[in-house]
Amino acid sequence: KKLKFTLFTSITMTSYENKGEKPDEKHSFAGYDHIHFWVANAKQAAAFYVLRFGFEYLAYRGLETGVRDVATHVVRQNKIIFAFSSPLNPVESEMGRRIMIKGDAAKDVAFAVRDCRAIYEKAMSRGAESVQEPKEESDEHGSVVTATVKTYGDTVHTFVERHAYKGVFLPGYRAVDKVDPLATLLPSPGLQFIDHIVGNQPDLKMNEACDWYEKTLGFHRFWSVDDSQIHSEYSSLRSIVMTDYDEVIKMPINEPAAGKRKSQIQEYVDYHGGAGVQHIALNTNDIITALKNLKARGSEFLTVPDAYYDNLKARLAKSPVQVKEDLDVLKSLSILVDFDDKGYLLQIFTKPVEDRPTLFYEVIQRNNHSGFGAGNFRALFESIEAEQAKRGNL
Ligand code: FE2
Repeated sequence: KKLKFTLFTSITMTSYENKGEKPDEKHSFAGYDHIHFWVANAKQAAAFYVLRFGFEYLAYRGLETGVRDVATHVVRQNKIIFAFSSPLNPVESEMGRRIMIKGDAAKDVAFAVRDCRAIYEKAMSRGAESVQEPKEESDEHGSVVTATVKTYGDTVHTFVERHAYKGVFLPGYRAVDKVDPLATLLPSPGLQFIDHIVGNQPDLKMNEACDWYEKTLGFHRFWSVDDSQIHSEYSSLRSIVMTDYDEVIKMPINEPAAGKRKSQIQEYVDYHGGAGVQHIALNTNDIITALKNLKARGSEFLTVPDAYYDNLKARLAKSPVQVKEDLDVLKSLSILVDFDDKGYLLQIFTKPVEDRPTLFYEVIQRNNHSGFGAGNFRALFESIEAEQAKRGNL
């Protein structure tokens, strides 16, 4: 069953009520576990997230721990865990080739599961492609079972079963209590957990990617923005959000749509070399403090014209929703507001965090609103397109 809503503009979004068959406990998902990036220089990438985003060092694996081919630095902020890996040797490797083609990019969106083997076997029986069969690894802190399957592009999902483990990350990693002296000069942004992770697909590949989540992982469609409706004067996209039965993992899937100029999704696909993770949304319960602290750390965000806030005030005046935050403060920080009759969300997007116009971040605060900011798409697109034009890609 589908429920369609028309927003204040011509944008139509759809909520879906059919969650599919309820899985038993061992086939259910517990949330995001971590994201693993393959990068050219893991040590420097980890330092970037520590300084600019307020993460703390958590774990390390490399030459000093007896791993000869790859170094991995792991950082954490509350429930958000990022791992960065780089090859160590001057020889060709899968990781090295991938970094050469794609640059620094998310490789593995790892999900926390209750029974790794059950989820993996079910996915395999439904046509998933294996990257790693279930494997149990242990150290003095206990044991973890992992298995990995392929999803869109060359991105993978590892299923992590860690209820029998007490270490800081995974077996084989050494805990790190190093503190960056610069990072301690600034307050924490207070980012709490991964809200959603968006995957960009090439033209007309969105439904295929969504069907994969439905078929192999038992996910269902949660929300979508209606195809032709989401666009600025120049470019357009389509998006469907896939989620697990308990709706603890949200994976929006985008594809470009035809416009007068090149879609931002197509720009991503061109520079990444195919499908991949476009943005990672980090949830906070205080976006104003988060933004002040992220900006103090030098993180760079997209801005929208002042007219956005004039328009917002006029629309809110006709709505039963009360935004508790001071709109002038939101405006001063370029934080966007999306709302319906029951609640609202506050969100903002970083500029790309690398030279390639590929990966970026969203900071989001939800107040009884489970959407993804469709009401802001137009304003955002115009802001993104201004950046695209500077890059000569519009
Ligand atoms: Fe988002």
